[in-house]
Amino acid sequence: MYPALYSVAGMARLVDLRSDTVTRPTAAMRAAMSHAEVGDDVYRDDPTVLALEERTARILGKEAALFVPSGSMGNQIAILCHTQRGDEIIAGEGAHCAFYEAGAAAAWSGAQFAFAGKGGLFTAADVIAAIKPTAYYMPRTRLVTIENTHNRAGGRVFPQAEVLAIADVARAHGLAMHLDGARLWNASVATGLEVSALAAPFDTVSVCFSKGLGAPIGSALCGTEELIARALRFRKMLGGGMRQAGILASCALHALDHHRDRIAEDHAAAKHIADTIRAVAGAHVEPVETNIVNVDTPEVAAEVVVEAAKDRGVLIGASGPHRVRIVTHLDLARDDIPWTAQALAAAVRDAIDEVRSTSRRGA
Ligand SMILES: Cc1ncc(COP(=O)(O)O)c(C=O)c1O
Repeated sequence: MYPALYSVAGMARLVDLRSDTVTRPTAAMRAAMSHAEVGDDVYRDDPTVLALEERTARILGKEAALFVPSGSMGNQIAILCHTQRGDEIIAGEGAHCAFYEAGAAAAWSGAQFAFAGKGGLFTAADVIAAIKPTAYYMPRTRLVTIENTHNRAGGRVFPQAEVLAIADVARAHGLAMHLDGARLWNASVATGLEVSALAAPFDTVSVCFSKGLGAPIGSALCGTEELIARALRFRKMLGGGMRQAGILASCALHALDHHRDRIAEDHAAAKHIADTIRAVAGAHVEPVETNIVNVDTPEVAAEVVVEAAKDRGVLIGASGPHRVRIVTHLDLARDDIPWTAQALAAAVRDAIDEVRSTSRRGA
């Protein structure tokens, strides 16, 4: 049955599964925000920001944390802390810090990337192969960055045994380790491993509050006291010093208290959606580990599938010429999961049927 669309202030609204960043603050989160005690965080006297930083550092098992406006800024400050001009960063294919941050590592740090492995995840052997020999004319390999879960790889969890092996190689070669943990909360729920255990092999870890946790804005960069003191200076240089930021930090604190465990529901919803679409002949659905579903339609352009899904009431995104990405999150109501899955499967089927019948007519 065709669903009733949501209505917000009289406007028809679609179920939006383009990303887990599209969530809106819950009523309880807005209440927490309205009661937040605030100060001026550039003077470092906003008590709610300081409480969030202290709490995040404790959860991640690091000495200190710094609240930053975005995951991109967290990653880029880490790169600024670890590299100098002409240095090289080893990353997995499609790493957010290389692919989606507007060339910031080149612009701010003057560093370049060497990609290891295939598809986003990589091994200790891949790192060894990517490390440049020491010579005055070679880039200097300085940093290994890992994304867990990996966005473009479809929310895949980076196997912790491999992370530990990579960390051993990095230490042996004097390389720093950074974790882009925008969705580390998802990796923790999926593996049952503590966030602190996942973070332990890294010098710096960035985590986002504005993805699976459902806060409107904000990330944190975690590391040693000494590194975070340097990070504070870079945050200011990049214009990331915010004043009464406790308003935002209160949402993140609320999310840490109330939205971590429920991430399991997002994973179950993603699996249900994937299984439903998998029944459509001509659609290839990648295995789902967390809250991201990648669907490949080799015969059909991704934009055609995106439009067909929109026609059926669901917003999704194209992440390749023949690939769409579906991301589950806090704002996907439990009651909406079955029809959303059916609508997406029907949209994929429509798009494939349309292309097949057009090519038959043309033949
Ligand atoms: C893996 C990963 N890292 C970092 C970011 C950057 O976060 P932000 O959009 O807050 O800059 C994202 C955003 O989607 C992401 O998926």
